[in-house]
Amino acid sequence: MDVILSSTCSGAVGRNSQMKDWVKKVAPAVMQRTLPLWLRMRLVVWTGRRGFRWHFPLPTDLLRELADSEPNAFHRFLWSNHLAYAAGYELSRFGSEKLEPSRRMLLDDMQQYLRTQGVAPECEVNSVFDAGCSLGHVLRFAETEVFCSATRLRGVDVDRYAVEAGSAYLKEAGSRIELITGDVGQIERYMAGEKLDVVLCCGVLMYFDQAMAARVVKALLTRTKVIAGFICLAHPEKDNGTLASSAIRPLDCGFIHNIDAMVQCAGGRVVSRRWIPRPLVAETSPPYMILAKPQ
Ligand SMILES: C[S@@+](CC[C@H](N)C(=O)[O-])C[C@H]1O[C@@H](n2cnc3c(N)ncnc32)[C@H](O)[C@@H]1O
Repeated sequence: MDVILSSTCSGAVGRNSQMKDWVKKVAPAVMQRTLPLWLRMRLVVWTGRRGFRWHFPLPTDLLRELADSEPNAFHRFLWSNHLAYAAGYELSRFGSEKLEPSRRMLLDDMQQYLRTQGVAPECEVNSVFDAGCSLGHVLRFAETEVFCSATRLRGVDVDRYAVEAGSAYLKEAGSRIELITGDVGQIERYMAGEKLDVVLCCGVLMYFDQAMAARVVKALLTRTKVIAGFICLAHPEKDNGTLASSAIRPLDCGFIHNIDAMVQCAGGRVVSRRWIPRPLVAETSPPYMILAKPQ
């Protein structure tokens, strides 16, 4: 009886997984041809909320025309609905031992630079802004371990779920960090008329095409008093600083930019840079990091 039962179960499990494979591979192509884009977008949100993943890493097959013609809107759609790659952003990201090595490296470089300028990071930095802050986990590290005396720590992110979950966590922890839901593509709205000592933008510009990324770099630098730090996707073969124009990583339609050039165009100056064409740890992207001064 046990044997019959288990073979029945494994048959059912096998059929179930074949069915899932079929849905993931064939259904997107059929739906792409038969359903309008708005309906497919609704379907992705509806199924995503129920934990279904159309394709790893993105439901690009299903939303092909959006990904190709409006990449900024495509990525904003996924992040703002906490879909696809956004699912990895949960409260478990908090904690200094969990911080991605590239973020730690950028903040280490920043502290070192500030010291060479006679600024003590732990007591002379008053304000920090994080564009694309997600849960606020990088800001929390900055608050507790780097810029410990900062009184204004703010972040903006389009992922409402992450902002709400992060805000609740930070409130409970007695943090001074304030998170806002908003689009970094319209960053002027959230930083109107103010300048902050330190501005961070880590792992975000890859979701903007070249024109939008350049605009955001300029907007952020204009509102930076002391130093801005950017982390972007590293080109796998050549230093990003040599790119004549931005490239696309086919895996996830992420953009590979030349931030050096964008900083220069914005009237800023690169004071430190790293191009690391391999991931520092598994399941992360190869980082390209820039520290820039506003002038
Ligand atoms: C790879 S995660 C990085 C999160 C965090 N900065 C870090 O270093 O761990 C990219 C973040 O950018 C945010 N993002 C993407 N497009 C955005 C947009 N248009 N406006 C605001 N945030 C955006 C996502 O919601 C996500 O939190």
